Order: sequence, then C-alpha cells, then structure tokens
Amino acid sequence: MIEAMSKLRNEAPIGVFDSGLGGLTVLRALAARLPREDFVYLGDTARVPYGTRTVQTVLNYSHACARVLRDNRIKMLVVACHTVSACALDALAAELFVPSIGAIVPGTRAGLAVSLNKRLGVIATAGTLRSGAYLRAVGELDRTAQVFIEAAPLLVPMVEEGWLDREATRLTARAYLEPLAKSDVDALVLGSTHYSLLMPLIADELAALSGKAVPVIDSAPAIAEEVATTLESRQLATARDDPGKLRIIFTDMPDDFGPANRFLGKDLAQLSVSAVDV
Ligand code: DGL
Repeated sequence: MIEAMSKLRNEAPIGVFDSGLGGLTVLRALAARLPREDFVYLGDTARVPYGTRTVQTVLNYSHACARVLRDNRIKMLVVACHTVSACALDALAAELFVPSIGAIVPGTRAGLAVSLNKRLGVIATAGTLRSGAYLRAVGELDRTAQVFIEAAPLLVPMVEEGWLDREATRLTARAYLEPLAKSDVDALVLGSTHYSLLMPLIADELAALSGKAVPVIDSAPAIAEEVATTLESRQLATARDDPGKLRIIFTDMPDDFGPANRFLGKDLAQLSVSAVDV
C-alpha cells in the first residue's frame, strides 16, 4: 500500500512557479536536465511584475497562486522567480507541504564556487535586493565571502520587449554593472529570471568595465541541478522512461506567445497552455 502510494507520488508533476514568463528560462533548464519528469508551470501573468512590489504584496500574490499549485497535486515546488524565492519561499513550502527549492541558494552556491577572492556580485530586482536574501544566502554558505548587489529593474521590461542586444540595453546594463566592477567583483550571479537571456551582453559589458573576464552565473541550470539532487535524495524521481510533459498555466493568457517562446526556447503553441483565475 505504502509502496503503491509512493509510486503514485513519484509520477506527479513538479510545480514551477513564477511571477510571469521569465521563469520559463528555469523550466527550460529543468526540462533539459530532467527530461522524463512532468512539469506544470504557473506564471502569474495577470500581476507581473513582482520585483517592484512590497514583501507583503508578493506574499499575498504567492498565497493566491498556491491554490492552483495544490490543485495540481505537485510532488515538489520549484520557485523560479527570484523575488518570490526571496520573500515567500518558506511561506509557500509551509503551505504546500512539499519539498521546495528556490532560486537564490543554487545561484549563490554556483557563484561562490567560481569566485576566487570571494567578492560576489549580484544583479536582481529591487524587491530581491531589499529582502536581503542574497546577503543571508552568502552568510550561510561562506562567511568569508562579501556580496555586492545592485538592483537592475529596467532590464526586466527590456528583455520582455526582446531587446536582447540593443544599444539601449547595453547602456542600461553598463550603468548597473559599473558599481559592481568598481567593487572588483570576481563573479556575478544573475539574480532574476529575465537576465539569463542577456548573459552574453552582461558578460561582455562586465568584462569591458572590469578589464578582465568575470564569470557570470545563470541561476537556471544551478536550480535544475539542485532539483535533480533533491529528487534523488528524497527518492522522488519518476520511474517512467518516456519523455515528460510540460503543462503551462497563466493567470492571464498572453495574446502573443512570442516573448514566452523566447524564454522557453520552444513554441508554446505545441504545448498544453491554459488560463486560470486566482
Ligand atoms: N521573475 C522576477 C524575478 O526573477 C522578475 C520579473 C518580476 O519582477 O516579476 O525576480
């Protein structure tokens, strides 16, 4: 009986929660790392962005979305959104009562692993910066390390607009990166779902400002790796051999899948996509 129940549980989907479309970069990394798992992605497109809101508002929005995640009987929660991870991960984990992985710790760990002088730079939303979540994560992972964090809010709408290599985006990134280069950071963590798409531009600009190549960490593959390890250690991995399915749920159906396709790296029209009210 117990064995049958745990088999059933292992075949449940992994829930991926984000404020909107950006978390599809994390879903992309998860599906690549764990191709046999089923995923259900919930993007709160009706209320994005979260990065400009107060902690209380992020908690309220996340709480409203938790119902949808619970209704989908997920076996694990991945909070792809850095802002939600910074403000509401513990609350969601307590509410859903499933193993829950956020975006902050995996990216921080990957950043510290490549930072030789332990001077870690982070760019994030204003909400993530204010939460102090990266300071806490660095404090817990390596007390000898220093963290330098800049809010880079304008990069979020620029990525949504598809401005991945425009001069305006370069200038904006440069303005945010300048103080970090002055602080002599020796690794940079991309602390928002959206910045993954700007990886080459950010790496170029930071190298130009620093006068040397500085490793830039995309949190998405680091999150996927942590999810894989947790599935294994908690004996939660699927036993199936066939390819897993991706299901996408939005709180407001986009008219145009173009931006979502860019984040996911594949055409959403070929997937199951639905809308839900929260
Ligand atoms: N998903 C958010 C994050 O990673 C960025 C977009 C937003 O502000 O909601 O912090």
